[in-house]
Amino acid sequence: MKIFHEIAPLRAHLSARPRAQRGFVPTMGALHAGHRALLERARAENGEVALSIYVNRPQFNDAGDFTNYPVTLDADLEMARAAGVDVVFAPPPEALYPDAYRYRVTETTYARTQEGAHRPGHFDGVLTVVLKLFQLIDPGRAYFGEKDWQQLRLVEGMAEALFLPVEIVRCPTVRAEDGLALSSRNARLSPEDRKRAAAFPAAMARAASTEAAVEALRKDGFTVEYVLDDGDRRLGAVVLGGVRLIDNLPLPSFPSPSAT
Ligand code: PAF
Repeated sequence: MKIFHEIAPLRAHLSARPRAQRGFVPTMGALHAGHRALLERARAENGEVALSIYVNRPQFNDAGDFTNYPVTLDADLEMARAAGVDVVFAPPPEALYPDAYRYRVTETTYARTQEGAHRPGHFDGVLTVVLKLFQLIDPGRAYFGEKDWQQLRLVEGMAEALFLPVEIVRCPTVRAEDGLALSSRNARLSPEDRKRAAAFPAAMARAASTEAAVEALRKDGFTVEYVLDDGDRRLGAVVLGGVRLIDNLPLPSFPSPSAT
């Protein structure tokens, strides 16, 4: 496994290899079993697997969230090695922004709704760094988890709008046994809150309406930012013990009230 911190040697190494056979998993580190599933899928479907680890300041609308974001580079590299990653790109902070973020990618409609309405500027930061990483890694395929549903759809939209020669591969959310979606932020939950957090996906899945889900979550002690239905998905964001959690699920098909 080759580890690059600088852009020039990374590009020199990758340019000698076939891009179409390169699978890419972009991350902010603090890797967990959800990331492992992305890496394993990339490994199974490509001749070469590249992983990026970069905590991208511009996508954090909350300075405290950025400061508290877990950094576990040694453990990340161990997981990468075990998953058969060939190339790791872990640039130093701000190496990706020689322009000091003067140039950025903005989607003007969908990115301002849902998660974007609660995190102003978040998706500008995500799309900008993903485009930069695509430019540097030049993958044939890139793997994104469905847990960040709106991110996934915006990256798909960007790839289409900007004619990027990369296939975006959707990967199902990986959940703990109690149903909580795996997330690097889960590590910041107290043991007691970690137990209570399982009520979040449960309420989202069971409630017959978004209002009922909000009510159930509030009763369970969550601060609810939003629960909404969009097409065949229910999406939500809550805060528990100061930790923000997001999730989304296919909408349940509830029996109609007239059904016996
Ligand atoms: O999903 C993430 O971890 C990040 O948003 C991403 C795609 C690596 C961009 O920083």
